Parts: sequence; C-alpha cells; structure tokens
Amino acid sequence: MTEVSRIPQHVTIIMDGNGRWAKERGKERVYGHYEGVESVRACTEAAVEAGVKYLSLYAFSQENWNRPQQEVESLMKLFFKSILEERSGFMNNGIKFVVCGNLEPLSEGLREQILECMEATSGNSRLTLVLFINYSGKWDIVQAANRFIALNPGKEIDQAGLESCLATRGIPDPDLMIRTSGEQRISNYLLWQCAYTEFYFSPVYWPDFRREEFNKALEVYAGRDRRFGGVK
Ligand code: IPE
Ligand code: IPE
Ligand code: MG
Repeated sequence: MTEVSRIPQHVTIIMDGNGRWAKERGKERVYGHYEGVESVRACTEAAVEAGVKYLSLYAFSQENWNRPQQEVESLMKLFFKSILEERSGFMNNGIKFVVCGNLEPLSEGLREQILECMEATSGNSRLTLVLFINYSGKWDIVQAANRFIALNPGKEIDQAGLESCLATRGIPDPDLMIRTSGEQRISNYLLWQCAYTEFYFSPVYWPDFRREEFNKALEVYAGRDRRFGGVK
C-alpha cells in the first residue's frame, strides 16, 4: 500500500458527548453544542491538511426530535448561525458544503440557508463537508427504495440501483468512522454505507475532540489492514 492510500478518502464522525461535556462544567447542555462547533472547525482544518477529500458529520438524528423542545430549538438555531457564519470560510478554503437528510420538517429559513450555502460552495473541490441533519440510516434505505421504484417502475431493485438513490449518492462510502464520547454504537447512522468502514471509538467528548485527536484517529486508521472479505 502506498502512503497515499493510508489517508482515508472519507472520514465520518458521530459527534457525541456535548451534553456530558457541559454537565461536567455545571453548564446547560446547549453550551456543549456551541463548543462543539469549534471542534467542527478544528477537524475540518485538520482534514484539509491531511488530504482527506470528504468529511461528514452526524449533527442531528431523526431520533433527536425526542429531546426537550428547548434543546431541539437551540440546535436548529445553532445550525442556522453556524452555516451563515462559516460560509465565507468555506469559500476561502475551497470547501464544498453539502447537507444530507430529510429537510422537510426544518424551518423554511434554515432550509433556505442550507440550500444557499450548498449552491454557493458547489464549485469548490478541496474538501466536501457533509452535514447530516434529520438523518437516519433506516430512513435513507426506505426513501432510496421508494425513489428507485418511482424512477424505474416495474424494475427489480439491485444494489447499484439502490445506491444511486441513497441520500449520499455521489459520496464515496466512509473509510473511517469516528465516534466520540466512549459510546460504541451506530445510532441509526450510515447503515448501508458503513458495510466495510473502519471504526474508531474515542473516549474524548466532542467539544474536546480537536486537531490532535483527529490526527490520532488517522494514525490508527493508517495501521489498519482492510481485507474486504479477501485474503492477503
Ligand atoms: C451530540 O452530543 C450532539 C447531538 C446528538 C446533537 P449529545 O447531545 O448527544 O451529548 P451527550 O451524549 O448527551 O453527552
Ligand atoms: C447520535 O448521538 C446522533 C448524533 C450525534 C447526531 P445520540 O447521542 O443521539 O445517540 P444515542 O442516543 O446515545 O445512541
Ligand atoms: Mg449523545
């Protein structure tokens, strides 16, 4: 294997532990979410420097609607504010911004903000930053099946066909999935797309997961032996 292929093309992160991080400091959970934005910035910079081409982040699951209304509202406000504020940085750094998930239940303002930022950054190619908002893996598989049927009436679903209808179509499957905060589960994230993904679990809470921790994960990944069911 060459040096280059030891760098994952697509790193995905389940950003977890914001609430516990805040609680440890005697603060409201939302304080952890705000601090987590700094980690997004740090990991995005580290990904660009390392030559990672896709960085994707699980920001809000479909199940996260079950949280207290106040927390959900704070998160939606934070998405709006962050996307607005980061836009010029995306342009300056060649970052293409993409959102995956069911955007229908989001406010019109947030939806517009997302679409405008995606449109403005669509020509950038240094790094694609994907934010998963109101996403779940089971939702994606079902919507892909329905989409396939609608586009190909009477045709039997095959793997390539289903893949071409996933919310993540056009984005390569993750090579490395990081989950922070010590939890070791997938929480209805990229169920189809993680078929051969390498997993890395860190005990560090997301607001403390910065450049050094990200690079540590890349180092561990570089030592993994991926066999894809074959023999080496
Ligand atoms: C992750 O941190 C952020 C989101 C799920 C939006 P949490 O809010 O889940 O933090 P913990 O897991 O409760 O500490
Ligand atoms: C997963 O974290 C979802 C996101 C990071 C957006 P959760 O904190 O919601 O997951 P569980 O409930 O611990 O499995
Ligand atoms: Mg959590």
